[in-house]
Amino acid sequence: MNLSARNASSFSEFQIDAPQLTKILTYPRFSQEEYLLRLKELESLGVTSLYTGGRTMLDGIRIAGKGCVGIVIRAKSGKNTYALKIRRLDANRRTMRDEVRLHTIANAAGVGPRLESCTDNFVLMEFIDGQSIIDWARGEITQEDTRSVIHSILEQCYSLDRAGLDHGELSKIDNHVLVHGQKASIIDFESASTIRKTSNVSAAGQSLLVSGAVANMITRVLPCDRESAIRALKTYKWDQTRVNFENLLALV
Ligand SMILES: Nc1ncnc2c1ncn2[C@@H]1O[C@H](COP(=O)(O)OP(=O)(O)OP(=O)(O)O)[C@@H](O)[C@H]1O
Ligand SMILES: [Mg+2]
Repeated sequence: MNLSARNASSFSEFQIDAPQLTKILTYPRFSQEEYLLRLKELESLGVTSLYTGGRTMLDGIRIAGKGCVGIVIRAKSGKNTYALKIRRLDANRRTMRDEVRLHTIANAAGVGPRLESCTDNFVLMEFIDGQSIIDWARGEITQEDTRSVIHSILEQCYSLDRAGLDHGELSKIDNHVLVHGQKASIIDFESASTIRKTSNVSAAGQSLLVSGAVANMITRVLPCDRESAIRALKTYKWDQTRVNFENLLALV
């Protein structure tokens, strides 16, 4: 994806070896050895520059996002712009390979930012130009947008259920869905599993329609009978059929 004119002014481009980026590449503590290794990995991914800018501030630098495992920043490879997830040095895993394996299964089901490539310390993927669902829900949302976003999320959850991949963190939906326009993207597959029973629709449905901060804000705009939602979710949980799924969708 190319940088849109709207955002071009708020992002600054830096060569990958620019001093401003050293702490981003080896967050939270600098290591010369790791830094040099990581520059080589970026070259192998064809990444030539990174763009500071975005909604999250990290040590005085704006970035796209931050979690316990990774720092996410816009990156340029060839003519395209991607999201680059950088493994933190204090992450509870040595490589990003397992996350990529699970994310690949999600992509095959048509879910998640499209993966481009990866190394041990980096994942290069489609950049989602959106905001977390919790920030989105805090803004001025229309009934039409809200319905469309909920349907988009639940359809993706249904696809994951069909594919046998349990995301694992959709009961804490706040930072695991990015909303862009009337669409949504489920992100971060590090806790996903092909072994656990799938509960994507159940977990997301619960946090979108039944309880928690996001559900409270959504149901204020788009009234949905709580008891009916709980019943529909229960029925689907035990028998994950399309008919039961559509009975849930029909409530919103
Ligand atoms: N493809 C993407 N496009 C744009 N922004 C993204 C993308 N992927 C992640 N982000 C941003 O970066 C943040 C951190 O990403 P992610 O959740 O994958 O990291 P994490 O370290 O695994 O987080 P956590 O500690 O919650 O598990 C997200 O909340 C989101 O704001
Ligand atoms: Mg994570």
